[in-house]
Amino acid sequence: MRGNRLFPAVKAYLHVPCNVRLHDRVVALLVVFFIALLGCTQPSTMENGSTVVFKHGKIAGDPAHLRALLDEFERRNPGIRVKDEALPASTDEQHQFYVINLEGKSADFDVLSMDVIWVPEFARAGWLRDLSHLLPPEARDEFFPGPVEADCYAGRMYAVPWYIDAGLLYYRSDLLLRHGLKVPRTWPALVAAAQHVMEREPGIYGFIWQGRQYEGLVCNVLEVARSNGGEVLKDGRCVIDSRQNAEALRFMRDLIARYGVTPPLVTTAIEETTRHIFGSGRALFMRNWPYAWNLFQREGSAVRGRIGVAPLPSFPGRPSASTLGGWQLGVNRHSNHAEAAEKLVAFLTSPDTQKRLALTIGYKPTRKSLYADADLRREQPFIAGLYDIFMHAGPRPVTPYYMMITQVMQSEFSAAVSGIRPAAEALLSARRQIDHILEAER
Ligand code: GLC
Repeated sequence: MRGNRLFPAVKAYLHVPCNVRLHDRVVALLVVFFIALLGCTQPSTMENGSTVVFKHGKIAGDPAHLRALLDEFERRNPGIRVKDEALPASTDEQHQFYVINLEGKSADFDVLSMDVIWVPEFARAGWLRDLSHLLPPEARDEFFPGPVEADCYAGRMYAVPWYIDAGLLYYRSDLLLRHGLKVPRTWPALVAAAQHVMEREPGIYGFIWQGRQYEGLVCNVLEVARSNGGEVLKDGRCVIDSRQNAEALRFMRDLIARYGVTPPLVTTAIEETTRHIFGSGRALFMRNWPYAWNLFQREGSAVRGRIGVAPLPSFPGRPSASTLGGWQLGVNRHSNHAEAAEKLVAFLTSPDTQKRLALTIGYKPTRKSLYADADLRREQPFIAGLYDIFMHAGPRPVTPYYMMITQVMQSEFSAAVSGIRPAAEALLSARRQIDHILEAER
């Protein structure tokens, strides 16, 4: 921050015209230096303790819940203030912000929340502080293994798991009951149930999901593909152009173009688009992350008490497959308040804070023991069933090159679900491009 104040002063000096006499230039330089010094001695955050800047994605729901926790942290740590700054909700936009600012060695923020797919990339670039001491090996067992693995790079921990995500099937329990239908366990059963209800309930969408060309689409496609036995990488080799993946991707296109249970609008939808549609009572099924549950059960919600949550369906004879998601807290390597920043990370990932975040915002704990917590089970009975889903959720490839791989998947998957390219062709093209990335990596 202080560095930024120097820039206008330096610029002002550089703009003193060259024909000004040397004496005047020296005076100008001194004035400018004095102004810069004033800038530096403005009441700095260091004098009254540290102000830790905490960057995170936009909170779905009421941001006051997070602020209340941060206020409590301030009360417990006199001398540390926390300024929280929200970035857009989309993971891709947040990633762009961090790449630009961390690459530029910005010290404007101290604690950052990171998508589970970014840590190896950020750690490899040297942008994160080593936080291994916050999570010694014996403490790691308290967390779900997926995020712990994702936060580890070259044997060191560069982040602490904050909250965990996995794809779920939301359904309208009232509509299924009214039509004598069961919660579908397979994709064909989901299509049949959706068609049945759509014929009898005008204006209802059958199944909505996230189909815009962005990271969320990759999560959605991987779930359908893996529930057909497909994969992206196997033993370091790209196997994305398999028959199983082609069938799955074709099925997703068919949901829109052949079975008519998914509206074409999903090809531009992200999490919040679908959450709003389902939350206003206009869809029978929705794929989304766990956060949506709390919002649906709020007072005044059109679907309160009329929804249920289940594992995602699969192709017959195969297990359900959720994508592992979630957010991690790390400390900017260039932070000027590293000690205070680490305290904040420890506080926000503590069992108590994770429990309160689950009860208020609906962020699901990364600490396994909280799934047996009596209060959480009473308030959110479905949390018990999430434990197994989180244990088995499938991570996206854990590599510093993931962002390059996902760019390829995003554009090829999007072309296939929007009907621009046949699924098999899109996957072949993805395989060739990913092969190039993997070769460059070797
Ligand atoms: C959620 C997940 C994150 C994922 C993103 C995709 O925020 O937690 O891991 O990448 O959705 O949109």
